[in-house]
Amino acid sequence: MSDITIAIDGFSSTGKSTVARQLAAALSYIYVDTGAMYRAVTLYALRSGFISGETVDDKALINHLKGLELEFRHNPDTGRSDMYLNGENVEKQIRTLEVSRMVSQVAILPEVREKLVALQRKMGKNKGLVMDGRDIGTVVFPDAELKIFMTASPDIRAARRYKELLDKGEKVQYEEVLENVRKRDHIDANRAVSPLKKAEDAVVVDNSDMGLSEQFERLHFLARQIIAEE
Ligand code: DC
Repeated sequence: MSDITIAIDGFSSTGKSTVARQLAAALSYIYVDTGAMYRAVTLYALRSGFISGETVDDKALINHLKGLELEFRHNPDTGRSDMYLNGENVEKQIRTLEVSRMVSQVAILPEVREKLVALQRKMGKNKGLVMDGRDIGTVVFPDAELKIFMTASPDIRAARRYKELLDKGEKVQYEEVLENVRKRDHIDANRAVSPLKKAEDAVVVDNSDMGLSEQFERLHFLARQIIAEE
């Protein structure tokens, strides 16, 4: 019995992070939310004036990538890991609709992906982790012992995300959120570098009609089975 790597990929707002966090806690594994890293780079680009309207100034962002410091630090109050950008806790700032709107455009840049994938591989070198994202089972850890591909209908995902944003006090329209979900699906699945796609050996979980505990039980069972065999 030894530690494994669990890769969870899928469309946005499929609840990857919820189940990944639950799994990591149950197995005493590390949880890494790679979307937070792409969001932090996007926040940096927004703050630096490298994004105007819908356009990202690729060259300026790429020129500044080297000096960009991204780090997860444990937050004892929440028991979770918070995203730090150049030493500042940006966990809250990276979850706004403004960042969501632009993140796919930043995540298509090969230079950004190269930097973040290298960091992610470093975090996972000792195994014993659950990592969620879009390319974890296909690019970051193609040898992961357990790969999950999560999906749910766009309407259901938009409704979940809408509720989350309202709970946080953001003033948004449901249609705006649905539009963002659809647009991100399209960009994430069609970009040239590391598009979102199911790894051949991934287990598909459609959670449109699945409760949180049912979903967790299913993945926990799969994980325990593989861990027992390792
Ligand atoms: O999981 P999320 O919605 O927080 O991710 C935000 C964006 O980052 C998503 O639209 C696509 C991108 N992303 C990516 O390209 N590769 C990853 N491994 C994780 C996220």
